[in-house]
Amino acid sequence: MGKVGFGVAVGVAVATCAVAAVMVGRRVRRRRRWTRVVAVLEEFEESCATHVGRLRQVVDAMAVEMHAGLASEGGSKLKMLLTFVDTLPNGSEKGTYYALDLGGTNFRVLQVQLGGDSSDRSAILRHDVVRQAIPPHLMTSTSEDLFDFIASSLKEFVEKEEGFSELSAVKRMELGFTFSFPVKQMSVLSGILIKWTKGFAIEDMVGRDVSECLQQAMSKIGLNMRVAALVNDSVGTLALGHYQDEDTVAAVIIGTGTNACYLERADAIIKCQGLLTTSGCMVVNMEWGNFWSSHLPRTSYDVDLDANSPNPNDQGFEKMVSGMYLGEIVRRVILRMSEESDSFGPVASRLSEPFTLRTPLMAAMHGDESPELREVARILKDDLEIPDVPLKVRKLIVKVCDVVTRRAARLAAAGIVGILKKIGRDGSGGITSGRTKGQQKFRRTVVVVEGGLYTNYSMFREYLDEAVTEILGDEISPHVILKHTEDGSGIGAALLAAAYSSPNVDTVQLL
Ligand code: BGC
Repeated sequence: MGKVGFGVAVGVAVATCAVAAVMVGRRVRRRRRWTRVVAVLEEFEESCATHVGRLRQVVDAMAVEMHAGLASEGGSKLKMLLTFVDTLPNGSEKGTYYALDLGGTNFRVLQVQLGGDSSDRSAILRHDVVRQAIPPHLMTSTSEDLFDFIASSLKEFVEKEEGFSELSAVKRMELGFTFSFPVKQMSVLSGILIKWTKGFAIEDMVGRDVSECLQQAMSKIGLNMRVAALVNDSVGTLALGHYQDEDTVAAVIIGTGTNACYLERADAIIKCQGLLTTSGCMVVNMEWGNFWSSHLPRTSYDVDLDANSPNPNDQGFEKMVSGMYLGEIVRRVILRMSEESDSFGPVASRLSEPFTLRTPLMAAMHGDESPELREVARILKDDLEIPDVPLKVRKLIVKVCDVVTRRAARLAAAGIVGILKKIGRDGSGGITSGRTKGQQKFRRTVVVVEGGLYTNYSMFREYLDEAVTEILGDEISPHVILKHTEDGSGIGAALLAAAYSSPNVDTVQLL
């Protein structure tokens, strides 16, 4: 080999080595990035841990906060609001009633016909429902705009149902109004809005009587209808649950927002001394979305989500549990992963826009059972504008959805057991447990659950049911039944309108 040949050979060898070094370097960097992406997931999973010991701490904290909220006004982050509902419908209600259910992204209007046969707990002869989306601009507009819109949709529905267009000529109709926000009730049919949640922000409404606003809007358009009951969605759900099964003691909503209510002994409501109720009980609206405890597994993503929300330091439990926020937590974790990896393309994609990943999309990714995770790829491409995400990354994304949902469902389960503990139905021997020492006898206890997350997201439901069993243990859990209802919040409001417009019902008095 001549000098030139030798020089070329050396040059080729050097170039080959350089290329190889670049490739190895790239591979090492890629591996390092991948390790960092995996580390983001592992760290997140660890901080979301909800082992049963921690859940039991949440159970105890919930029961303690319930006591505190009942003891004094402002005594806890749990408002424990009086509802003035002391008797739940028993089947004797008869006639045609309407309901208006407002509280999430949709509202519903219903007509319910009641047979009045108390021996037959399925005496709801028929109910018609119409669902309508609330135009997003009305959620932050004025109370007049919102209520005018709702009243006219209600009127349209009633005209169709009654087959009559001169509604002022029809005899006055009775309405149950489900308004799913924190309300300080003055009676069963009136109450003042304390604050908005779930993205609603109509400032002029806070502090005003909700029923009066609706009543004015209905009168303006000649709708001859009276608000006979103003109820929270959890209270409506409890009314239907109890109507169908007398062993029902509590109702839980897990949809856009989350909440629970239950039947409490009037004498346990210490902040309201001298509460005269016919039954000796009252339904208490817990507003558990605002529950807080240091035992909740909070991550840096939750902290950031809260800080950037319109209501920071508020509705802490809701932000970890409900449908409005789960997709957003997942988006934040994926965004963090994308900052560590080049598998997601430029970070400027839609992934950096808050609330682009809605919970139904997250549920669809979580439920994708195809081996190549086709639905995950489609959602990433169509909804988040991130094409060509490799399969191994898609698998991590499904795992993120799983961690977020599992934590939410297990915390909701702990909340439910917290209520059971407060009323002595968790087997730990509370004051009204019905447990006779030595005999280990437990009363059948039903909790009704409603809301899109529980109804439509099967993994969420499975995790919740499983956690309730895990916390209560094999001996007690067979006595606790979680039942799912649909449209209970609206039908229950109509039932309460029927029960409370009857002349035979005494109203609750505050001495
Ligand atoms: C509201 C509750 C409501 C729950 C479920 C929460 O944001 O504060 O009043 O019951 O959502 O709709």
